[in-house]
Amino acid sequence: MNFSGGPAALPEEVLKEASEAVVDYNGTGLSILELPHRGKDFEKILEEAKELVRELCGLGSDYEILWLHGGGRLQFCMVPMNFLGPEDTAGYVASGHWAEEAMEYAAHYGDVQILSTSREDNYAHLPKWPTDVSNNLAYLHYTTNNTIYGTQFHTVPKGNVPLVADMSSDILCSKRDYTNCALIYAAAQKNIGPAGATMVAIRKDMLERIHRDIPAMLSYKKHAEKNSLLNTPPVFAIYTSMLTLRWTKKKGIDAIEAENRQKATLLYNEIDRNSIFTGTVTNKADRSLMNVCFTANNSENEKAFLQFCSERDITGIKGHRFVGGFRASLYNAVSIQATESLVQAMQDFEKENKY
Ligand SMILES: Cc1ncc(COP(=O)(O)O)c(C=O)c1O
Repeated sequence: MNFSGGPAALPEEVLKEASEAVVDYNGTGLSILELPHRGKDFEKILEEAKELVRELCGLGSDYEILWLHGGGRLQFCMVPMNFLGPEDTAGYVASGHWAEEAMEYAAHYGDVQILSTSREDNYAHLPKWPTDVSNNLAYLHYTTNNTIYGTQFHTVPKGNVPLVADMSSDILCSKRDYTNCALIYAAAQKNIGPAGATMVAIRKDMLERIHRDIPAMLSYKKHAEKNSLLNTPPVFAIYTSMLTLRWTKKKGIDAIEAENRQKATLLYNEIDRNSIFTGTVTNKADRSLMNVCFTANNSENEKAFLQFCSERDITGIKGHRFVGGFRASLYNAVSIQATESLVQAMQDFEKENKY
């Protein structure tokens, strides 16, 4: 039972199909690892991966879907490289480590303004959503889900400047209005596939706002013109992401959201009830559906509970090294049964360690 923050649990049927394709892709006699990226077979995979994102996010033909390399951090660079000229200012909502890091990268290219932050409370709650945002900002960047601290913006706000959303750790976890965003990016390794591929959905009018002379590999426009085939794409990572998106579609976003809510409720209720554990998010309304962060009442119990879980085949619940404690990630592929097993482990641990 894998509760890792990422690379994260993938659906069993996806792992099975992907592993079969490593030996023989679709009866071609070639491994997916050997498939030419400009051939018909990969063309179909790429097209399906794009269309599934479009459909599952409810995006129309006014959006370009790209599949790129470089993970979340390359997007921290590409966003300002493409949209933040030396005379421009971009606004950032500094809600956690990844938002801060994105902002640091942006400062290399232009002026950055912190629109709101919860830095002073070590990001234990969400900052207030900024309301008085200048029309002159090049864009507003925010992280929809703060993977390390376990806070999440549950809806996508509408704004007066292009909204850029890092959805790496909660894309497709619930029904949301993705069309409020001018650009969405998600490193695949949590809800949509393995590490190595990054999905970018960009509204086409944004492609005309690029004013800096940048190398083709860093330009959204060039990637769009070349249909994500500017260089050799991460074929296997895109294929496995496509399989995960197929699984997501088969299950349906409504069912996925209902399960995610059920898993989160089970675990948060136990944290609130259990005398050993305490949730770390100070405002309950900000609690993430995806990353549930908590601590134990002393460091001995912290170590002991990790061991207790490991003996029960529960893995990946150690908190991020910046904050310690525990983090159980309840991404889409984590089952209700696995969540119940974790809750049971917490109850058993409490019984054994109460006095
Ligand atoms: C929300 C978010 N953004 C960005 C990143 C960084 O992604 P990468 O390691 O692919 O650069 C992470 C990593 O966990 C993340 O959770």
